Amino acid sequence: MSSETNGSPGSVLVTGGSRGIGLELARRFAADGHPLVLVAREEEALEEARRQLESEGSPSVLCLSVDLAEPGAPRRVYREVAGSSPPVDVVVNNAGFSTHGPFHRSAVGAQGDMVRVMIEAPTRLSRLFLEGMVERDRGGVLNVASTAAFQPGPRQAVYFAAKSYLLSFTQAVAHELDGTSVRVSVLCPGPTGTDFQERAEMDGVRLGGEGPVPLMSPARVAEVGYRGWRDGQRVVIPGALNRIGALGARLTPDSLNMRVVDWLQRPPGQGGQEG
Ligand SMILES: NC(=O)c1ccc[n+]([C@@H]2O[C@H](COP(=O)([O-])OP(=O)(O)OC[C@H]3O[C@@H](n4cnc5c(N)ncnc54)[C@H](OP(=O)(O)O)[C@@H]3O)[C@@H](O)[C@H]2O)c1
Repeated sequence: MSSETNGSPGSVLVTGGSRGIGLELARRFAADGHPLVLVAREEEALEEARRQLESEGSPSVLCLSVDLAEPGAPRRVYREVAGSSPPVDVVVNNAGFSTHGPFHRSAVGAQGDMVRVMIEAPTRLSRLFLEGMVERDRGGVLNVASTAAFQPGPRQAVYFAAKSYLLSFTQAVAHELDGTSVRVSVLCPGPTGTDFQERAEMDGVRLGGEGPVPLMSPARVAEVGYRGWRDGQRVVIPGALNRIGALGARLTPDSLNMRVVDWLQRPPGQGGQEG
């Protein structure tokens, strides 16, 4: 069942929809006839995404160039599309990024931006859009977290913590909406082949595709995420290895989990914890 049950397909708003996993999720929703609203900062990348999606037959693609780290950005996004027809029936909170390295040496501004983009923006966008979804009794929210959500993550401390917040927050809201037709899910991909690792300066580390965890394609992640959300699954983890890893982290003391993460954060040939 998709969100067009009560009439024409509603719009789908995808933050970080200009590239990577967000672009693939947008593509997947468009294939089911949903008009799109893409939110990201870089206008050129947004326009390129719009051209691609329209050439593939997407119904309509509206691009909003917005920095979600700016105060008030979620409300500005909401105002841009409030009252539009068809209404926004689905919000995909996907925008995200990370720094890499010890917290005390990280860029001070970047840490605050991570909190605003990956905690504050998804929370506020969910609040602003969910009320109408519940009134219409259709649509929902798909939050993109990570397998990072399942344990603390040395060298990406804020990123792992932000994804844990999204996992907890999404499950609680989904529980509140049990018994409605509004679906709320959290997608927890493992390492995925996008620009993310290069932008986080993680190239060459085990977690960036050089180690035991292979990179999954963003199209595969999006397909599994889309189906999981559509089928009402609350927590969606693409890939058997990632599901085993997430379960393993739940059953293992965090002191040990963090040693493993620290090791994964290094290039092959390097151990953990030496600075
Ligand atoms: N790749 C992985 O290994 C992996 C694994 C698990 C989870 N994830 C999660 O998946 C999501 C998508 O990541 P990806 O791998 O597709 O990375 P990506 O290719 O780097 O795409 C990130 C998207 O977020 C947007 N974005 C970043 N900062 C923003 C800001 N301040 N305001 C608005 N938009 C912003 C980017 O556009 P602009 O830069 O133009 O703003 C881009 O569209 C993220 O939440 C990430 O944490 C990724």
